[in-house]
Amino acid sequence: MQAQRTVPFVDLGWQTRRIREAADAAIARVIDSSGFILGAAAADFEEEFARYCGVAHCLGVANGTDALELALEAAGVGRGDEVILPANTFVATAEAVVRVGATPVLVDCTDDFLISVEGVADAVSSRTRAVAAVHLYGQTAPVEALRAVVGTDVVILEDAAQSQGATRHGIRAGSLGDVAATSFYPGKNLGAFGDAGAVLTADDALAGTIRRLRNHGGIAKYEHSVVGRNSRLDGIQAAVLSAKLAHLDEWNQLRRDAAETYGEMLDGDRVQLPVVANGNEHVFHLYVVKVAERDRVLEGLTAAGIGAGIHYPTPVHLLPAFGFLGLKAGSFPNAERQAAEILSLPMYPGLAEDDQQYVADTLHALL
Ligand SMILES: Cc1ncc(COP(=O)(O)O)c(C=O)c1O
Repeated sequence: MQAQRTVPFVDLGWQTRRIREAADAAIARVIDSSGFILGAAAADFEEEFARYCGVAHCLGVANGTDALELALEAAGVGRGDEVILPANTFVATAEAVVRVGATPVLVDCTDDFLISVEGVADAVSSRTRAVAAVHLYGQTAPVEALRAVVGTDVVILEDAAQSQGATRHGIRAGSLGDVAATSFYPGKNLGAFGDAGAVLTADDALAGTIRRLRNHGGIAKYEHSVVGRNSRLDGIQAAVLSAKLAHLDEWNQLRRDAAETYGEMLDGDRVQLPVVANGNEHVFHLYVVKVAERDRVLEGLTAAGIGAGIHYPTPVHLLPAFGFLGLKAGSFPNAERQAAEILSLPMYPGLAEDDQQYVADTLHALL
């Protein structure tokens, strides 16, 4: 009997094979120098990634969720403040707002899955302190339009977890707002070999505050000038990230090529293809289409050995954890409709064209 063909959702091994030698050598240097927490490898990576993103400061932290929380805290967002964010994001964006003591104010999204600028305009109040511009799936939110709506007194926090390398009108994600948080979770476009994240900002004072907050409130040992916490980047993760950063542009191009190939293979009448917003260069962290009877289609793909997913099945306001917001079904029609229709297809650098053809053929047969 012929073995069933399988197409994984992601293939991290492909990336690992390409950086293995460089990563092994860099990890060995960290081990030999005992620079396990922050240290030289982290400082090197922070400098490289700040330069890559076009900002003055990159502060390596333990994960992307901490990065969001630290960015908000350092920007002075807390109790009594409101933070506007899209209802269709990964839960971490909303968690960070609650963790700093602020109130999440959710708004709907548009057809490109990005935060609705009109929704933000309606949601702004005298208590609005920040807006989270989530660069969902790998393309940037319309930050300049958000700025026009919220003004300069409101902090624009980019959630750049899914958008390393993406640009808007030629400007890199991470340098579009006042401060940005990113995640180097292994499956991200720039992924570590474990948890890791970073905050990016051009603001010297904000960077100084985060530098303290992430390290028990001080920069030097036993200096505790503010009440901080422990959220630091590991040397070994930094070494891996430096090795991968050298390939990021090439790997993002492979993702764009794969997206173009899907675009040619898929029948646009039956499968709604992702929309790339004007001015954006997408990095396709995820390739998200919309289909009717999504759950049945997903089951069919899974049965055919194809790794597909839903990002995310439930908008934030309908998650039990956020029931305290008191928002019912029907509050955000676009986000809710999309949650029922979205389907993430296999997408990664190294995705073979014949595998994409198998995905497209299997998908068409299910529709
Ligand atoms: C949009 C978004 N924000 C925040 C996060 C949180 O990052 P982490 O998993 O590193 O905490 C993620 C990643 O999972 C994400 O996709």
